[in-house]
Amino acid sequence: MSTEKIQRVGVIGAGQMGAGIAEVCARAHIDVLVFEQTRELAAAGRSRILRSLDRGVSSGKITEREREQAAWRLRFTSDLADFADRQLVVEAVLEDEKIKTAIFRELDEVVTDPNAVLASNTSSIPIMKIGIATKNPERVLGLHFFNPVPVLPLVELVTTLKTSTEVAQRAEAFASDVLGKQVVRSADRSGFVVNALLVPYLLSAIRMVESGFATKEDIDKATVLGLAHPMGPLALTDLVGLDTVKSIADSMYEEFKEPLYSAPPLLMRMVEAGLVGKKSGAGFYQYT
Ligand code: CAA
Repeated sequence: MSTEKIQRVGVIGAGQMGAGIAEVCARAHIDVLVFEQTRELAAAGRSRILRSLDRGVSSGKITEREREQAAWRLRFTSDLADFADRQLVVEAVLEDEKIKTAIFRELDEVVTDPNAVLASNTSSIPIMKIGIATKNPERVLGLHFFNPVPVLPLVELVTTLKTSTEVAQRAEAFASDVLGKQVVRSADRSGFVVNALLVPYLLSAIRMVESGFATKEDIDKATVLGLAHPMGPLALTDLVGLDTVKSIADSMYEEFKEPLYSAPPLLMRMVEAGLVGKKSGAGFYQYT
């Protein structure tokens, strides 16, 4: 089986996570093909990446020339068949099991390398549920990045009962040696390590707002100043996206039936109202 060095990566979805993953791959000299459903979504994804590369230049993290070269390595398509030659594909679409399994079923038919890594960036869906949608679950694993992807150095690697050791090693080597990320391994349990710890904390902060225990500003201030967190739980919920936090909570609740993981009504109402955080312009705070 081929285990040649990964040089051709595919990313499915150019939302905030997909764009970030595509950006760090392009910055690491990898040829990146990004799937988006329409030209408009692809154009929005490209601008998101270019804005972040600009930020990298203005903060002195990359040079003007590195920015140009990274932008040049990114191509977009709306046809999954173009992923045939990819050695690693990272799926980063909405946290919807049906959509993800449909994508993996198709990817599995399309990607020819028998040792290709078919990875999901899911925040919480057990990877086995995605793997069994394919005929080759040994190629499927979880590679979970953190937002903002160019800034946060962690990747969680999640293997299933069926993932091959070779594929897992190939993914780990890519994340650490090529992308320069630190890798931790998690069992295939909803939420993995980080969200199993983070999401009950975010939900508790939302319950505090809902019950009038403290204001959102004071809750955020308390954790920034009292715990030295870079941002408070409500600002972080806005950054992650309230819809994503709700999906993760639902998935963890389905897996563990733990009341701490159940989405509070305020979170549900805000998602229904479209107040999903920074990406929509408003969540717990306004972004204009
Ligand atoms: N490219 C390269 N570097 C960038 C960058 C980019 N696009 N954007 C920012 N940076 C760098 C900046 O240059 C700066 O670097 P220095 O400290 O060396 O100067 C650093 O990142 C911080 O950026 P800023 O100074 O602009 O902003 P900040 O200090 O207010 O930090 C933040 C912003 C990075 C978001 C910080 O508040 C933070 O880390 N917050 C916590 C985020 C977090 O917890 N994320 C995980 C969420 S959970 C998740 O993602 C998984 C899930 O499944 C839900």
